[in-house]
Amino acid sequence: MGRAASAARTVKPPTTAPTASAPKTADAPAPSGAAPVTGPVTTPGTASVPARPPGLHRPPGTLRAGLVGLGAMGRNHARILASLDGVEFVGAVDPAGDPHGSLHALPGVPVLHEVADLLALGVDYVVVACPTALHEEVGLQLAAHGVCALIEKPLAHSAEAARRLVRAFEERGLVAGVGHVERFNPALQQLRARLEAGELGEVFQVVTRRQGPFPHRIADVGVVKDLATHDIDLTGWITGQEYATLAARTVSKSGRPHEDMVAVVGSLADGTMVSHLVNWLSPLKERFTAVTGERGCFVADTLTADLTFHANGAVATEWEALRAFRGVAEGDTVRYAFPKREPLVVEHERFRDAVRDGVRRGETGGIVTVREGLRTVEVSAAVLESARDTGTLALATAPAPPVTPVTSEAPVTTAAVAAANAVPETSAAATPTTPPATTPAVPPVSEQPA
Ligand SMILES: NC(=O)c1ccc[n+]([C@@H]2O[C@H](COP(=O)([O-])OP(=O)(O)OC[C@H]3O[C@@H](n4cnc5c(N)ncnc54)[C@H](O)[C@@H]3O)[C@@H](O)[C@H]2O)c1
Repeated sequence: MGRAASAARTVKPPTTAPTASAPKTADAPAPSGAAPVTGPVTTPGTASVPARPPGLHRPPGTLRAGLVGLGAMGRNHARILASLDGVEFVGAVDPAGDPHGSLHALPGVPVLHEVADLLALGVDYVVVACPTALHEEVGLQLAAHGVCALIEKPLAHSAEAARRLVRAFEERGLVAGVGHVERFNPALQQLRARLEAGELGEVFQVVTRRQGPFPHRIADVGVVKDLATHDIDLTGWITGQEYATLAARTVSKSGRPHEDMVAVVGSLADGTMVSHLVNWLSPLKERFTAVTGERGCFVADTLTADLTFHANGAVATEWEALRAFRGVAEGDTVRYAFPKREPLVVEHERFRDAVRDGVRRGETGGIVTVREGLRTVEVSAAVLESARDTGTLALATAPAPPVTPVTSEAPVTTAAVAAANAVPETSAAATPTTPPATTPAVPPVSEQPA
């Protein structure tokens, strides 16, 4: 059987402030004294937006919000914007009109053709749900007009574009967030709180699987940027750790230029192992996160918003063979009960509050900041770079030698099994790169279950 391996790629440390001017950002550290607060501001020369003082000093009142993109995700944003307390939904932009009839029940909300039409109505913030490749263009236009933005994930199609967006919003002191909605999934919020409280002890490993059928509408990016960015963001968020190294493999089976399946293995800064299996090629829809540590394993299902804890066994077993076979013994399994609010509603509430109240420097205001979104795009770029990596170590593909049966009467030792399966010297000489024959996975007699 053929196998391939490559050296792990070291993930560059987080991008530091790309701005040339003094920091006026929502999440840069405050230089000294009271932390200033950022919020909507008017950029000089862009008179279409009514002038208001920034942050906490702006008068209380209803926020005027708009939407760009009325597709599969945009229709959900439209539903929530239409009923969000403290927000007036003033209009939506989509050059294709309203393909899902999202605004049919909202006669006062016009469908517009261009972002400029929306800006002309006067908006405090805009939700950007157009194709990923357009996030940069639309986001820069909003920032230039002093408008705050909640931009769908991923923040942008490339790390460079994401950096330009961070710079544009930070330089103007505008609140800007990214729609990494998994962070608002109640199962992951519970999981993070329990990890923070130390319930798992040391964290050893984070495993995620995100599989499902092909979304024909997504053509501008591959599955790494479209879906795996969820896994990258949530892994960093629940553990509070940066990615340190990773290696990845991708395939493209759909005939599109971009990949549609990826496997990533990596490590976080504290040594926690991670793995992500993400694809658009499965009839099985799965959104699985498992965190294994000292005291057991948490499993979060973000489709059902369930969180289950499988505890290590505290009860000693006298059954020696079973104990040896199992390793970590089974303990109690608990599925927690907790309130389950729709994650997208919570994401909108947090963003509305951040725009209304401002975000103190050095804090996130409960939103996923564009700087965090940039970091996720950078890690996704490292995934794709690793998948393209030519530093592959190809292992020999000699057929496995037959396994000689070992009778139960004979004493089984590692040496005896290795001798029984030894590859003749002649074949080793003919294929010098063939790895030495390995001991088959025959457990010692004492470890076999009765
Ligand atoms: N957070 C999530 O879980 C989640 C889920 C799905 C999609 N998304 C993101 O949302 C974005 C949109 O994805 P989608 O699935 O809704 O795609 P989609 O193709 O269904 O919708 C995109 C819409 O944008 C419109 N559009 C195209 N150009 C435009 C422009 N210049 N201005 C305004 N609108 C324009 C299209 O006509 C279309 O109606 C993507 O960035 C995607 O990654 C996020």
